[in-house]
Amino acid sequence: MKVLLVLYDGGKAAEEEPRLLGTIQNKLGIANWLKDQGHELVATADKEGEGSEFRKHIVDAEVLITTPFHPGYLTKEILSTAKNLKLCITAGVGSDHIDLNAANERNITVIEVSGSNVVSVAEHVVMSILLLVRNYTPAHEQIMGGGWDVAPMARHSFDLENKVVGTVGAGRIGYRVLQRLMPFDCKELLYFDYAPLPETAAKAIKVRRVESLEDMVSQCDIVTVNCPLHEKTRGLFNKELISKMKPGAWLVNTARGAICDAQAVADALESGQLGGYAGDVWNVQPAPADHPWRKMRHPLGGGNGMVPHMSGTTIDAQIRYSEGTKKILENYLTGKPQDPANLIVENGDYVSKAYGQRDSKAAEKKEEVRTD
Ligand code: NAI
Repeated sequence: MKVLLVLYDGGKAAEEEPRLLGTIQNKLGIANWLKDQGHELVATADKEGEGSEFRKHIVDAEVLITTPFHPGYLTKEILSTAKNLKLCITAGVGSDHIDLNAANERNITVIEVSGSNVVSVAEHVVMSILLLVRNYTPAHEQIMGGGWDVAPMARHSFDLENKVVGTVGAGRIGYRVLQRLMPFDCKELLYFDYAPLPETAAKAIKVRRVESLEDMVSQCDIVTVNCPLHEKTRGLFNKELISKMKPGAWLVNTARGAICDAQAVADALESGQLGGYAGDVWNVQPAPADHPWRKMRHPLGGGNGMVPHMSGTTIDAQIRYSEGTKKILENYLTGKPQDPANLIVENGDYVSKAYGQRDSKAAEKKEEVRTD
């Protein structure tokens, strides 16, 4: 069996830190295990363009393993060259880098390590909300630059207490974000999701469901995006939706960069319509040097909480998604059934209900995915 691993190059950091498992140096910790069983493993970071190693090796690989942090974009066209491909494993959460409809046409299974980094992301979201609302980043930059000037920092710094926070998507991450916000005594916690939370789960965190997205964002001081990227969420936060947000509201997106229109976000931040924008996900990864999100700022300075795609790849998360990947491979190699909570598409259909409202067997799985 040929396994193709697309991971980022961890360089010196990965040589020094063996727990940086999601790198071509450390190969998710599965290289020897696979080789000892006689399987061929190719690990590469070279994923873009006609002559890339990704394109070369996908042609006869049976299993593709990628991470969302350095996604090997498996388009319909590339998929058509992948003659032996049977299984795509996402070492992490979020399989939008694979054309899932094309995978269904070819009966290819797409599976991820559900839950492996959801706490890691939820913590990052809470941190990002705080650093925007408190105006942390420009204040820190001021100190690093040798300055001391309180007023320009304090004029755009607020409390999280008594603010309205809403999440788009109340799945594993969205729910955990709201749970972690409870001690901050927000005015209200809201969610928009086509799949309602079970009543007990909603009551436990005192969250109110809002039926329309426009309605929810118009009530929020802070919006956090926690839904997958699919046909209905690509470009969701465009100029029009952002204009429905409260002037000066903060937006945090750790779900997928392409859920937000890059230029619309930059324009809204620079005009002050957004009080701040933070996240770790970009519409193209790695993000180009001239990406508008690198340098955008609020008129009062700051308001930019962008980092590289890292919220779901803490050392703790890397250990969990590496172990989860090994378990999925073990199941595959021994013919055992996969954990249904990990399956995105299988046997030509969506198993997960999180990738949009579809007329498929996923609809029957509502409660299962929600509560695990
Ligand atoms: P999940 O599957 O548990 O929850 C997703 C929720 O979004 C579901 O409740 C679903 O019904 C809802 N949803 C789908 N489409 C929607 C729409 N149009 N409007 C409102 N809600 C919608 O997934 P989980 O674990 O919470 O992860 C969510 C996403 O976060 C992943 O798909 C991935 O893109 C992203 N993620 C980012 C990471 C990072 O490192 N930045 C790491 C892990 C996940």
